[in-house]
Amino acid sequence: MSINREKELMKLSGEFQKMVDEFFSVQCRYQAAIKEVQTKLEILDEEFQMRHSRNPIHHMQSRMKTIQSMMEKLRRKNERISVASAVEHLTDIAGIRVVCYYIEDIYTIANLLTSQDDIRVLKWRDYIKEPKENGYRSLHLVVEVPVFLSGGRTPVPVEVQIRTIAMDFWGSLEHSLRYKAVGKVPQDISDELLQAAEDIAALDVRMQSIRKRVDILTAAGEGTGEAAGEDAETPDAPEVDTPESDTP
Ligand code: GTP
Ligand code: MG
Repeated sequence: MSINREKELMKLSGEFQKMVDEFFSVQCRYQAAIKEVQTKLEILDEEFQMRHSRNPIHHMQSRMKTIQSMMEKLRRKNERISVASAVEHLTDIAGIRVVCYYIEDIYTIANLLTSQDDIRVLKWRDYIKEPKENGYRSLHLVVEVPVFLSGGRTPVPVEVQIRTIAMDFWGSLEHSLRYKAVGKVPQDISDELLQAAEDIAALDVRMQSIRKRVDILTAAGEGTGEAAGEDAETPDAPEVDTPESDTP
């Protein structure tokens, strides 16, 4: 091997090593941000349970975007492919999906989280009030949270998707069906998926109104010493930290 070629290879491997180091340091920062936001959400859920005897959050999932999917997204956006460029242009490197019981829980959690004074809201996109054309519903936020490392304070963006169990059910199935379909999903199937999304949205409204009626009964029962809600069993939220194919 010529000396020049050897020097070139050493330079390349040095650059590659630099990129790997950079990626791990970025990954560490985004993981820390996920932990912080997830802890905030857990605390809000616990406090809500204490005050209202039920949990608003059913479960949460978190994920870090893989280096491959970061690069693909940068390519799609026509941006430079590098770790620095991913940090500059992508706000969904860290993602948390919060699955709530009822529609109003979504807004309660979102408002409580975004009103904390160390949180900065970078994006608030409400696909519940304005569903996507295919019927997709969720509240998407990008919040910036300060992460304190040895080098000081760094603000880090985290994408938070908040939805009900019903919206999550539809989103997960629609995602896997879309991936299964080779090429474009036929119109009749898209129409049926849209109809299913609307049926599910109507069910969400119905379940919330049933809960309100139960709340009224419970409150009336408390007045007469016949409270039924106090000891009601609220199943523990399963903590799922390894999302499957349909990631936040
Ligand atoms: P991405 O490039 O996918 O990140 O899109 P974006 O930056 O325009 O953000 P958007 O808020 O539209 O969507 C971000 C994420 O929401 C996606 O990565 C999915 O997890 C979820 N999502 C958005 N639209 C749909 C949809 O139609 N179906 C399903 N199943 N999930 C969706
Ligand atoms: Mg995304």
